[in-house]
Amino acid sequence: MAKTGALTGKRVLLIIAGGIAAYKSLDLIRRLRERGARVIPVMTRAATEFITPLAVGALAAEKVHLELFDRDDEIDVGHIRLARDCDLVVVAPATADLIGKMANGLANDLASTVLLATERPVLIAPAMNPTMWSNPAVSRNASQLLIDGAHFIGPVSGEMAEKGEAGVGRMAEPLDIVAEIETLLDNRPKPLAGRRAIVTSGPTHEPIDPVRYIANRSSGAQGHAIAAALANAGADVTLISGPVTLPDPRGVKMVKVERAVEMRDAALNALPADIAVMVAAVADWRVDAEASEKIKKSPGEAPPALALTENPDILKTIGHHEKRPKLVIGFAAETNDVEDNARAKLARKGADLIVANDVSPETGIMGGSRNTVSIIAADGVDRWPEMDKAEVAERLVALISERLNPL
Ligand code: C5P
Repeated sequence: MAKTGALTGKRVLLIIAGGIAAYKSLDLIRRLRERGARVIPVMTRAATEFITPLAVGALAAEKVHLELFDRDDEIDVGHIRLARDCDLVVVAPATADLIGKMANGLANDLASTVLLATERPVLIAPAMNPTMWSNPAVSRNASQLLIDGAHFIGPVSGEMAEKGEAGVGRMAEPLDIVAEIETLLDNRPKPLAGRRAIVTSGPTHEPIDPVRYIANRSSGAQGHAIAAALANAGADVTLISGPVTLPDPRGVKMVKVERAVEMRDAALNALPADIAVMVAAVADWRVDAEASEKIKKSPGEAPPALALTENPDILKTIGHHEKRPKLVIGFAAETNDVEDNARAKLARKGADLIVANDVSPETGIMGGSRNTVSIIAADGVDRWPEMDKAEVAERLVALISERLNPL
């Protein structure tokens, strides 16, 4: 198993309580170890009814801690050592019982004692029947734990193990728990903490009639990556996205729209901001008179004429707005004369920087995962080599940080 990753060198104390979702904790152990974390497992007695310590120990490649009064461990007060010798405590699954004990400071087994003794961040992934989760006593306990500084992930909505039951109560998926752990343990600098950012991403869909629309090939990959990188740098990000098939980046406020006018309204709504990065491939035109019913094809009749009208230019609107963000960045997706066109766009749109890329079909940029961009500023051009869109995002965010926080 790979030992280097985002969690290399991190020790995660994983407390597994007794619920059917415990089977997902086996996968959680693997995912954490894949990313380089060391996982120290603690199981409650009830957990051992659902999965075996043998399976947990084998996957973690660690001793599984089960008893408060373990003769070997308690020679050196093992529960205190467990509570301190880690970077983070994860409770997955967290049952109503364990949540109740934590909220009330009870400690009558190893798991609850370690939780009382730890000063590390605690991440709780509840899993229980939806009726139990919505019980006022459980809500009260969960609210108390939030006040006390614990972090929660889930529960999420979906089907229950109980036949035919569904609702909010399922444990969050292991990969989502891993992502939350990465966020909690991320101690990289946050140069954009306290800054607000607006990002537009994806295509727009301009309806022709209720079933047809005008669209383009934008996947949203670059815009979403920039939103994620800004959030990682500590910015408070509003991501306004047209229709895409990408998952929502973690830690950003999503506003989902279809049409350019909706995107413009959402962008204006998100002001004031310090940073605006307009990456969306906004349709230049929309259909002038959208049909309220599906346009019918009649034999022998000429095809309908589509009269188009111009869409608002969101970048230009923001770039010249009285609440203009300090840093306004646009994109120029061109198939020819890329840099010249981008330079002309700088002043016209009121942008500080234009990220220019060649989207000729042979480049594979639109819809692909790599990008080759040039950064056009009033005082010059910086040509970046081909790289992943995620790396373009990282570098752009570094540039944004430099511009907003000059040395
Ligand atoms: O003029 P052009 O479409 O090439 O400009 C591209 C830049 O302007 C991109 O940053 C794009 O997000 C933005 N734009 C916009 N609203 C439009 C058209 C483009 O925000 N209606």
